Parts: sequence; structure tokens; C-alpha cells
Amino acid sequence: MKIVLIGFMGTGKSTVAQVLVKRLDTHVIEMDDLIVKKAGMSIEEIFEIGGEELFRKYESKVCADLRDTTKGVISTGGGVVMRDENVKNLKKNSLIVALTASFETVLKRINPKIPRPLFENKEKAKALYDLRKALYNKYADFEISTDDKKVDEVVEDIVVKIK
Ligand code: S3P
Repeated sequence: MKIVLIGFMGTGKSTVAQVLVKRLDTHVIEMDDLIVKKAGMSIEEIFEIGGEELFRKYESKVCADLRDTTKGVISTGGGVVMRDENVKNLKKNSLIVALTASFETVLKRINPKIPRPLFENKEKAKALYDLRKALYNKYADFEISTDDKKVDEVVEDIVVKIK
């Protein structure tokens, strides 16, 4: 089974993926790591050199590479929904689960030590959050709220839904 986690920065995709794979006895595919590997640079460097456009190019390539993957939990970056072709590639043989959280929760969870070029300005991040909300909803087979929930509870909610 292939599960794709989508959602805004700070909704818990990577954290939930780590626990979900143990529960389902499968492995994590961390898209940001694959992008870094493909580019041979950190996310910060990609943004410095070519801005968001270059980052999205690598991201789309990684989505295409993952098209024929049949197993695992794919933890995506928050902006993967910005291109329809990305979701088409990820959608093949998979269930897409959107993790949601209020913007207040997102703010609390964002770790300033992890570089997030699109979260440097709070107002811009909120505008992005508002813009993407409908996209996560549109592409998800189902949405799971992560507000005020422990990771294990979110994982249980997902397991119940996918069975
Ligand atoms: C991005 C989210 C990041 C990372 C990149 C762009 C976005 O991933 O892919 O900084 O556009 O929302 P996380 O959602 O894992 O933070």
C-alpha cells in the first residue's frame, strides 16, 4: 500500500510518517530528502540559487520518479500541491491523506532551526496557507485534523480510515 501525506508546513507530515510506517510495517519516503539528493544541495541553497522555481522543478522530478512506487509512506513538502502534475504522479496506486491544522497550531509547531524559505515571513506564510487550503482538500482522499492531538492519535485516525 502506498500512502501520500500532504499538508501545510507544520501539520506533522514527517513526524506522523515516522510512526505510521512502524504501525503499517513499511518504510518512509521523505520527499525533501530526495530533492536534496537529486539537487546535490540543501533546500536553502536551491532557493538561494534559483528561487522557488528551481525548487519546484526538482520537486516535480522527484514526484515523477515516485510515480511507479507501490509501497511506503511518502511524506511530501507543503508545496507539492502547487502543480497538478505532481499530484497526478503521486496519486497512482495510492491513498492521499491531508493533515490539517489551524494556522495558530502551525505557528507553534514550526521549528525555527529548520530552514523553511517560504516561512520566513509570517504574513506571507499565512497567505500561502489560505491559498493552499482548498488544494489540500481537493486532492486528498481524506483529511485528518492534527490540532490538539498526539502523534499516536493521528496515526490511529489514519489507520482507521484506510482500513
Ligand atoms: C515547502 C515546504 C517544505 C519544503 C520547502 C517548500 C512549501 O517542506 O518542501 O521548504 O512550499 O510549503 P515541509 O512541508 O516538510 O516543511
